[in-house]
Amino acid sequence: MAPEPEDELNEKNPRPLDEDDIALLKTYGLGPYSSSIKKTEKEIKEMAKKVNDLCGIKESDTGLAAPSQWDLVSDKQMMQEEQPLQVARCTKIINPNTEDAKYVINVKQIAKFVVGLGDKVSPTDIEEGMRVGVDRNKYQIQIPLPPKIDPSVTMMTVEEKPDVTYNDVGGCKEQIEKMREVVELPMLHPEKFVKLGIDPPKGVLCYGPPGTGKTLLARAVANRTDACFIRVIGSELVQKYVGEGARMVRELFQMARSKKACIVFFDEVDAIGGARFDDGVGGDNEVQRTMLEIVNQLDGFDARGNIKVLMATNRPDTLDPALLRPGRLDRKVEFGLPDLESRTQIFKIHTRTMNCERDVRFELLARLCPNSTGADIRSVCTEAGMYAIRARRKTVTEKDFLDAVNKVIKGYQKFSATPKYMVYN
Ligand SMILES: Nc1ncnc2c1ncn2[C@@H]1O[C@H](COP(=O)(O)OP(=O)(O)OP(=O)(O)O)[C@@H](O)[C@H]1O
Ligand SMILES: [Mg+2]
Repeated sequence: MAPEPEDELNEKNPRPLDEDDIALLKTYGLGPYSSSIKKTEKEIKEMAKKVNDLCGIKESDTGLAAPSQWDLVSDKQMMQEEQPLQVARCTKIINPNTEDAKYVINVKQIAKFVVGLGDKVSPTDIEEGMRVGVDRNKYQIQIPLPPKIDPSVTMMTVEEKPDVTYNDVGGCKEQIEKMREVVELPMLHPEKFVKLGIDPPKGVLCYGPPGTGKTLLARAVANRTDACFIRVIGSELVQKYVGEGARMVRELFQMARSKKACIVFFDEVDAIGGARFDDGVGGDNEVQRTMLEIVNQLDGFDARGNIKVLMATNRPDTLDPALLRPGRLDRKVEFGLPDLESRTQIFKIHTRTMNCERDVRFELLARLCPNSTGADIRSVCTEAGMYAIRARRKTVTEKDFLDAVNKVIKGYQKFSATPKYMVYN
């Protein structure tokens, strides 16, 4: 039976809701007391705020409680009850994974003991070969300790993410793409590599003239990644005593291996990665040993694990071929001078926070700076700002930029570090 024409019309153009309907609809999802509960909650919140205001309790920046709430006496007592622990190494576990597991510990220069666990540690936390803290009476294991790593190596971990993102890198599209392929793809989609049966690339060497954004891109990578990021400057590894640099490299990779995923970035790697040669005196041997330790760690006896190695240099020709061979650093990414479009982009990036005139022709400015690097362009922007300050203006005009181009690009040509790369573009 066909529906009656009147109904059909009603379904197609339903009557608009009037206010009563809306009020009715609004009550549908509500329980009987929801509105009063909401009101009470709001009142409680306000009351709590009032009480806090009256008491003067503030959240302090340091995370410490206010001095009025300190309980120094009981704190002191607690400190006294807690004895200092001794460091030992757990060399062997007897009957592991059973109720009566025993642990052989080696306290340096005293003796070896067979001990049990304290009440605060769980058996799963203790592994063979681990450093542990033991008490001084019964030598029971009280706390698992992390491996011993030089504090100067621990300090190299980048804790705070740098505030540079991929958006702050002008041009360099290809380079960013290549870098992300190595760093992000294997971490996000490991199954793709397993399916094909290849090992993902493990290392990247960035090279190019100074000021083209190598360090900048590494910082952007560090910003994006959730993996642990370790940053090493080549010269930090050059040490006074024989074997120290190599030991630091070893500890660095040991630390990296203990993380789930890790990116190690060696900046200015030419400080240690120079080609080996015999100068007859042996002065540079130490540096070479450090470099060889890196080579060893890159594909040595211990599995490298989920560690990506990035390196940056502006003298790729001086690096030792052993360091560069595929398998150690699979990818080499060149950072060339930016082209016209990239330069326009870099101009826009650096003037983003500046108070500029509305219609500055960045394209024209970019045309006026051939063969210049990102660092040059940044310097142009800063100089333009200086011109505006000198003229006591609050905005930067196009004329300022033109003056700055004249000063920086033409004036500082003597210092240019890029003659080798000069191609008109
Ligand atoms: N592509 C770019 N986009 C935006 N800014 C850039 C770019 N390249 C360089 N810069 C600017 O130049 C500055 C220096 O660049 P960076 O530190 O990356 O140089 P580098 O390539 O590491 O040089 P070096 O080989 O001397 O270490 C950066 O802080 C940034 O402000
Ligand atoms: Mg750099």
